[in-house]
Amino acid sequence: MSIQVTASGQACGATVRGVDLRDLDDDAVASIRSSWLEHKVLAFPDQELSDTDLERFTLRFGPFGNDPFFASIDGHPQIAAIRRTATETSSLFAENWHADWSFQEFPPDGTCLYGKIIPPVGGDTLFTNQQAALEEMPAELRGQIDGRVAIHSARGGYAPDGTYGDDDESDRSMQIVPSDDAYATQRHPLIRIHPETGAETLYSVLGYIIGIDGMETDAGRALLAELYHWQTREAFQYRHRWEPNMLVMWDNRCVLHRATGGYEGHERLLHRTTIGYNPDVRAA
Ligand code: SIN
Repeated sequence: MSIQVTASGQACGATVRGVDLRDLDDDAVASIRSSWLEHKVLAFPDQELSDTDLERFTLRFGPFGNDPFFASIDGHPQIAAIRRTATETSSLFAENWHADWSFQEFPPDGTCLYGKIIPPVGGDTLFTNQQAALEEMPAELRGQIDGRVAIHSARGGYAPDGTYGDDDESDRSMQIVPSDDAYATQRHPLIRIHPETGAETLYSVLGYIIGIDGMETDAGRALLAELYHWQTREAFQYRHRWEPNMLVMWDNRCVLHRATGGYEGHERLLHRTTIGYNPDVRAA
């Protein structure tokens, strides 16, 4: 059976059929990788994957990433459960636009998320294409960010006094582990070159950025707010609707993503791995 890739018709994203992710030869991996770079988010419906299968799939695309602040599931140190019970009242996890772990020196190239329990309504994941956001950015705004470097940190989310810190709601079912490590900072340019496609992309992650090098706090915040308004416009978005047994992989180097709610009274459970930074991949 040959691999069929159907573009979403939105700003990024495609659905891939005709492949069994438990049994990939090198040609299939190369074909998936090329579609991933083109569409940035790939959804594979109807995949019966065990946790070991999910790990094996992830490793075909790079090393595992280093996932801080999450407990892993039993027996699988590289897999985190993205979980919400039917009765949970805590704030939604990952509801702000972000690229995974942008506060690391080498953030993960990609993320894999596998749908296990999917609510009948709501719970979509939104993506926004940051290559397109940069390509279409007004020259005046682009002129303000050229050469600028942002300071990233996990403190707002994962420090003991952060959103998911010591005062987080008690009925959160996700296993989050806040830590003082979240106060560390890391600098990344606001415009980066995607190492595999060679394309310029916007790398502004409001929730993880605490300032811009060389700018006064208020001026930096105002610029980040203007960028946020631009980069999250509907024109750059793809809305992903989940099904059970669907695997989605996205490219953190050129998309942001966020969770959505709307499934109160229903359980939601997905298993997640990250594809770590791979220094060996380069634009052809
Ligand atoms: C995530 O950001 O890892 C989770 C996204 C989602 O729950 O839809």
